[in-house]
Amino acid sequence: MSTLRFATLEEAHIPAILDIEKLVNTAPWSERSFRNELDHPHGIFLVALLDGNIVGYGGFWMVIDEAHITTVAVSKSHQREGLGTKLVIDLLRRAKERGMTCSTLEVRAGNESAIKLYEKMGYIVAARRKAYYPDNKEDALVMWLHHLQDWEAPKA
Ligand SMILES: CC(C)(COP(=O)(O)OP(=O)(O)OC[C@H]1O[C@@H](n2cnc3c(N)ncnc32)[C@H](O)[C@@H]1OP(=O)(O)O)[C@@H](O)C(=O)NCCC(=O)NCCS
Repeated sequence: MSTLRFATLEEAHIPAILDIEKLVNTAPWSERSFRNELDHPHGIFLVALLDGNIVGYGGFWMVIDEAHITTVAVSKSHQREGLGTKLVIDLLRRAKERGMTCSTLEVRAGNESAIKLYEKMGYIVAARRKAYYPDNKEDALVMWLHHLQDWEAPKA
């Protein structure tokens, strides 16, 4: 039986995260971006550990009462196993515990898998930012999840 747990980002996690990041993201975050999450005063950043190995990560920033999801990723070899769902649920539970009343994020308009995941969590598309991503000029969808304090994780 595999064991999945979520842990707060530590410096020692960063090399494994960078290995995943360059394979799953078209515009990967830099090492510095992840390092900034280590001691972000208003941020929560988690790694997903499957039998002790990093298989995903994600975080949010707390902006007044809004949880801004900064990134969510699952390693290629473990995608479509429900890990992304569990990770987002854990992030939203922690945001709720910290008194956040809503959550928002930006996602590439062509990133169907991520959009579906967020819709399953209860996010809705609220706006489109034209040519938002500099690498390929792709539009961003702005998604919101309202009423976070009343939110319950969807049943598996
Ligand atoms: C988006 C991502 C985090 C999803 O993680 P995951 O662990 O594969 O997601 P899950 O297995 O929990 O799937 C949740 C739902 O997302 C949707 N989904 C996930 N992968 C999908 C795919 N390849 N095609 C279609 N839908 C998909 C489905 O609705 C799925 O639910 P279902 O399996 O019941 O149909 C992962 O694909 C990833 O890391 N992508 C690269 C990084 C990225 O784009 N992050 C989002 C930035 S905003």
